[in-house]
Amino acid sequence: MTVPALLTPLRHVLVVDDEEGLRHMLVVLLTREGYQATAVGSGEAALRELDHKPYDVVLSDIRMPRFDGLQLVDEIRRRGLRMTVIMMSAFGTLDTALEAMKRGAYDYIAKPFKPDEVVLVLRKAEERERLFRENQSLKRALAARASPNGLRGIDQILGQSKGMQEIARTIRKIAEYKTTVLVTGESGTGKEMVARALHACSPRAKDPFVAVNCAAIPEALLESELFGHRKGAFTDAHRDKRGLFEEASGGTLFLDEIGDLPVALQVKLLRVLQEQEIRPVGAVSDVKIDVRVIAATARDLPGEVKEGRFREDLYYRLNVLQIHLPPLRDRKEDIPALLEHFIAKINTRLGTRIGGTSTDALQLLIDHAWPGNVRELENTVERAMVLSDGNRIDAEVLPDKVRESRDKIRLTLLSGELSIKKTTRVIEEELIRKALRETRGNRTNAAKLLEISHRALLYKIKEFGIESAGKI
Ligand SMILES: Nc1ncnc2c1ncn2[C@@H]1O[C@H](COP(=O)(O)OP(=O)(O)OP(=O)(O)O)[C@@H](O)[C@H]1O
Ligand SMILES: [Mg+2]
Repeated sequence: MTVPALLTPLRHVLVVDDEEGLRHMLVVLLTREGYQATAVGSGEAALRELDHKPYDVVLSDIRMPRFDGLQLVDEIRRRGLRMTVIMMSAFGTLDTALEAMKRGAYDYIAKPFKPDEVVLVLRKAEERERLFRENQSLKRALAARASPNGLRGIDQILGQSKGMQEIARTIRKIAEYKTTVLVTGESGTGKEMVARALHACSPRAKDPFVAVNCAAIPEALLESELFGHRKGAFTDAHRDKRGLFEEASGGTLFLDEIGDLPVALQVKLLRVLQEQEIRPVGAVSDVKIDVRVIAATARDLPGEVKEGRFREDLYYRLNVLQIHLPPLRDRKEDIPALLEHFIAKINTRLGTRIGGTSTDALQLLIDHAWPGNVRELENTVERAMVLSDGNRIDAEVLPDKVRESRDKIRLTLLSGELSIKKTTRVIEEELIRKALRETRGNRTNAAKLLEISHRALLYKIKEFGIESAGKI
């Protein structure tokens, strides 16, 4: 995350002057004005200081013995340090000051100066810096808008796979409507990310996106959280409180884990969606709302409906438009791009300098079944980056469960074992475990993947002592 431009004034100032009295005066003045000022007496000392501490501004005299202000400007530029350099020019050095500006200094102040003049020049430099940063962030925003997907928000969603491309298209198509969307998919597949992209691409983008996790809030509080309450509605209701529906006014309310919504509230939510009105707890009348609702769940809602845990009418009301995120194991072609994205993101966050993965590590990452989907991949990459000594992720820093199958097969091959029968057995066992992992223990589907009969699979499961999907 970048710090907003306005919150980053040019705070650290390095004063360079061989005259002690002036150094002292400037430090006192600048400190009083809210800057953090340090002073040194020569150009060499200034360079030493700049080499190990970041400064925003250098305020330097021009004429100093040995190493003068002009040389200092040259050195700063040569080292690629990005800072504002302001020269202080005494009588007779105006030409040199102008020369310094040609070489990269920002401005100069003629000596002797009044304190106000110094402050004014600094403020001006600050304004220029603010504009510069604003310009940078606008450029970034424009670049994001011109992403291959063509829209802000969606550019964060990576995936070359057909499934993800289709999802990006759907988001673009339906974002502008107020229609309720149900986002489904296993844990960690990117449901919240899709909800945020829908919001970001919609005309509501400037208004709030409010996320509620229906499973995390105790049932007794959920109603007042969602709809608000009136003073005196219950013992702790000391004043009126706005609910999340009102907080999201004009924007989007994301109801995460909707499958966990208590049945009593399911009835109320259905009414809200139909009437576009809420009734705060303890209120006698309804309040109109303008909110787009996006709901998400990792549960099988039709199954929940059949079991009587989820109201059918609410299910249909939510499911007007559905986006289903396929599990990562069904779209492995997305893995390389996701890896690249996470490595860059984590490099920025942790200050690491990982350039990529070894071929070996990449293969293991592609082979893994990823039961925790994209979130698990992201966590695995972060852990591997922290553990890496070099500048790439090697197979050794990957967790055991990612490395396991490969190691076993390789060990057998390296052991000097020549028996085809024994080696094939190891490979066979690993393929069966992998197929069962990918199908979450569904033996019929696993047999299909393995291209063997269901009976043959059952026989081998017994032979290899593979018990349950959980242990695979
Ligand atoms: N296609 C993708 N491109 C880029 N990042 C992704 C993608 N899919 C998921 N992510 C990232 O993976 C992480 C998990 O995604 P998200 O929180 O949206 O998943 P979720 O389905 O809501 O998970 P859960 O069910 O556990 O709440 C986030 O950091 C998200 O940014
Ligand atoms: Mg989520």
